Amino acid sequence: MKDKIKELKEKQELAMLGGGENRIESQHAKGKLTARERLELLLDEGSFEEIGMFITHRSVEFGLERQKFLGDGVVTGYGNIHGRLVYVFAQDFTVFGGSLAEMHAEKICRIMDLAMENGAPVIGLNDSGGARIQEGVVSLGGYADIFYKNTRASGVIPQISAIMGPCAGGAVYSPALTDFVMMVQDSSYMFVTGPNVVKTVTHEEVTSEELGGASTHSTKSGVTHFSFANDLECIENLKKLLSYVPQNCEEEAPSVPYHASDETRVVLDDIIPENPNQPYDIKEVIEQVADASSFFEVHKDFAENMVVGFARLGGKSIGIVANQPAILAGVLDIDASTKGARFVRFCDCFNIPLLVFEDVPGFLPGTDQEWNGIISNGAKLLYAFSEATVPRITVITRKAYGGAYDVMNSKHIGADMNYAWPSAEIAVMGAKGAAEIIFRNEISAAADPEAKLKEKEDEYVKHFANPYRAAEKGYVDEVILPSDTRKKLMRAFDMLKNKAATLPKKKHGNIPL
Ligand code: HXC
Repeated sequence: MKDKIKELKEKQELAMLGGGENRIESQHAKGKLTARERLELLLDEGSFEEIGMFITHRSVEFGLERQKFLGDGVVTGYGNIHGRLVYVFAQDFTVFGGSLAEMHAEKICRIMDLAMENGAPVIGLNDSGGARIQEGVVSLGGYADIFYKNTRASGVIPQISAIMGPCAGGAVYSPALTDFVMMVQDSSYMFVTGPNVVKTVTHEEVTSEELGGASTHSTKSGVTHFSFANDLECIENLKKLLSYVPQNCEEEAPSVPYHASDETRVVLDDIIPENPNQPYDIKEVIEQVADASSFFEVHKDFAENMVVGFARLGGKSIGIVANQPAILAGVLDIDASTKGARFVRFCDCFNIPLLVFEDVPGFLPGTDQEWNGIISNGAKLLYAFSEATVPRITVITRKAYGGAYDVMNSKHIGADMNYAWPSAEIAVMGAKGAAEIIFRNEISAAADPEAKLKEKEDEYVKHFANPYRAAEKGYVDEVILPSDTRKKLMRAFDMLKNKAATLPKKKHGNIPL
């Protein structure tokens, strides 16, 4: 028996080395951790249980039969994060560049099946040269198997992808199908076709970093929700993200202990500038309303005119969607709409109540927006809110103009509670534009058209630039003091905690994608 135990230990030690010491060194030289080091940081100490440590490929092409590495380039298993079960896979770049082939894919699929059957999140740490070139079509089949499982798991269990090295070609589509993508700056990139192909086809000269680095995808494309300086920071934030979400669609997100105290926040009474066209930072409002330091922003650098993220209110997880008056006056454009819609749908899938802060002058006008489909993209946000059955509350802090009033979780599309601050202006459009249209004749006939316009503008402001017309109609449930917002929201979300709403029977809706 001693010999057999020795043999097992030797095999385990060999598996730990992945592609060998030299390749581990070269991984470190690139500023990257190995798959096992990453898992060690991600999971609670001693909680990792590996599955399939001795699996190897079955290929005999291109000399592969002479190159076998235990685990086949991906470390898979389960463990705990803050005591909660998660399923994980981490691609091992030291083995065939973490490339994906038949058995590598089978290992990932097994993890995904277990995650689905047992209702726990699946986390993928991606670091791979793509399809294993020597194995040909089975690699492509392996990818498709994973894509299919990603799609089946969507909305059932949270799926999170961290990109910690190359992720190119069709390989990008598994992360894209998951709920959240994280990237590491300077060591990860994602693109469907790399710089060489780009040069051949479009004659553009572009580096990997420019084409698909973390900065590009966090600011320009929005493909990644997060961008971090290094592996360590990425893993820390992945754990934090997980703390706001439940294990699966049947469960609630975990709450943290909270003892009620004085919930009044007097600074909020002074946050809205006297001049309605002066910007302010909606994140200051969020920081005051949410539990201290609990706001965890998602998609921070993309479409900054819309702010989304998780927070806690009285210890309970909520999703926040807010216009940002400090950027482009908080206007709704294509990117802001798709960003908001995707976040709303995640929260709704996973029973996370939604809180909306509204200060929006309308949709962004212009040929760029119209030709790129602000109509169908704006409709995504409208659809996402209308469809969401989680508790939903809106606070109108200032402007709620035009179609954007309807879209931003208005009562008419199913919000449960709608509050307005006394500074709210709920109208079809801004006062100046409105006066110019409805009093055009009167203004042009006046001796002093400018003075007349100002007079009519003031008249319109008096009539509509307040929350009371909407409150009279019941579109706003209550006009509240900003300083009372936190208090009101805590009570209202508590009142709504057993909300049971269902959608009409259907196979699935047809969101305007
Ligand atoms: C097999 C691979 C590999 C691959 C890398 N390696 N990619 N082996 N299949 N796809 C191996 C290398 O041979 C090398 O082996 C080791 O991994 C490390 O690679 P290096 O090139 O030394 O590393 P680095 O300089 O960091 O460059 C990384 C890289 C480069 C940029 C990813 O390796 C590369 O361009 N690889 C090919 C990428 C690719 O074209 N993949 C196919 C994409 S198509 P040794 O033994 O020397 O350590 C695709 C289709 C998917 O993925 C479709 C799904 C629908």
